[in-house]
Amino acid sequence: MKILITGARGQVGTELVNEAINRCHQVHAYGSNELDISNKEQVNKTVQQVKPDVIINAAAYTAVDKAETESELAYAVNSQGSENLAIACKSQNIPLLHISTDYVYDGEKQTPYIEVDQPNPTGVYGASKLEGDQKIEQIWHKYIILRVSWVFGEYGNNFVKTMLRLAEQRDELSIVDDQFGAPTSATAISKSLLDIIDSPQFNQQDCPWGIYNLQSDPGVSWYEFAREIFQQAKKMSLINKDMKLNPIPSSEFPTPVKRPANSKLDGAKLKQCFDILPVDWKRDLTKVLSS
Ligand SMILES: NC(=O)c1ccc[n+]([C@@H]2O[C@H](COP(=O)([O-])OP(=O)(O)OC[C@H]3O[C@@H](n4cnc5c(N)ncnc54)[C@H](OP(=O)(O)O)[C@@H]3O)[C@@H](O)[C@H]2O)c1
Repeated sequence: MKILITGARGQVGTELVNEAINRCHQVHAYGSNELDISNKEQVNKTVQQVKPDVIINAAAYTAVDKAETESELAYAVNSQGSENLAIACKSQNIPLLHISTDYVYDGEKQTPYIEVDQPNPTGVYGASKLEGDQKIEQIWHKYIILRVSWVFGEYGNNFVKTMLRLAEQRDELSIVDDQFGAPTSATAISKSLLDIIDSPQFNQQDCPWGIYNLQSDPGVSWYEFAREIFQQAKKMSLINKDMKLNPIPSSEFPTPVKRPANSKLDGAKLKQCFDILPVDWKRDLTKVLSS
């Protein structure tokens, strides 16, 4: 299949390009310099030239705290950009696969989020992502929106890399222990999106378009995630000391945007419709640490 990938130099975008090439798809990959999704003319022109069979949007404004002071830019990319892609897909009658986030929820729910739960973002980033999701839903019915949480991987900036960097500078860290979610590897996200594209029902009459959650297991707090990172890193001799970790409440680590206390996503719908199982992030962490 001819796949156009936006945000192709990002954490997920880079993995998506690799995975799509591995699966012998014809890939047209665009970084933000080559294709600015907030530019409607550029999007239309590129889509008309390439004539892809499907678009995967991995582009987004992802600076959660900075978005509070750069809301115009966040909305331009996350809302207007999604709208531009949905319009272009509609004009070419091709599907749009898009990545969304646990930050569309407020985290007040006690159990994992399902796709019909009411979103209620707590900051500009989550609100701009939600508006993008809603624009896609309104404009074009051939869409898959995959909601994911706590992304980590080999490329770009993420919690795993931050922990390893901090381990070079310190012996002791305080990590938030009252926000729960599930780390999800960029590889798992890429594989899931391509499994959807490669599934027999994709873009057929009975294709179950819509919003899906990607579940990752087991659910943990940031403190527990950090503990696992350091345990695995020590075992693999990436670090040669035992990090002292102190669990702290969110109140002791204030951020401009309040993070959801519960970011856990329920992936039953993805299993039922596309036979995609919850992912095992500890196994993926081992792969990332050994890369
Ligand atoms: N990271 C997480 O923890 C997390 C959690 C849940 C959901 N998500 C979602 O997962 C998706 C992928 O995120 P990620 O972690 O891969 O983020 P990322 O590493 O920040 O990648 C996003 C990419 O989008 C590009 N981009 C920004 N503005 C653009 C524009 N106007 N036009 C085209 N490209 C543009 C960026 O390019 P430049 O670097 O050149 O600006 C960057 O390469 C996003 O939809 C995000 O909302 C991420």
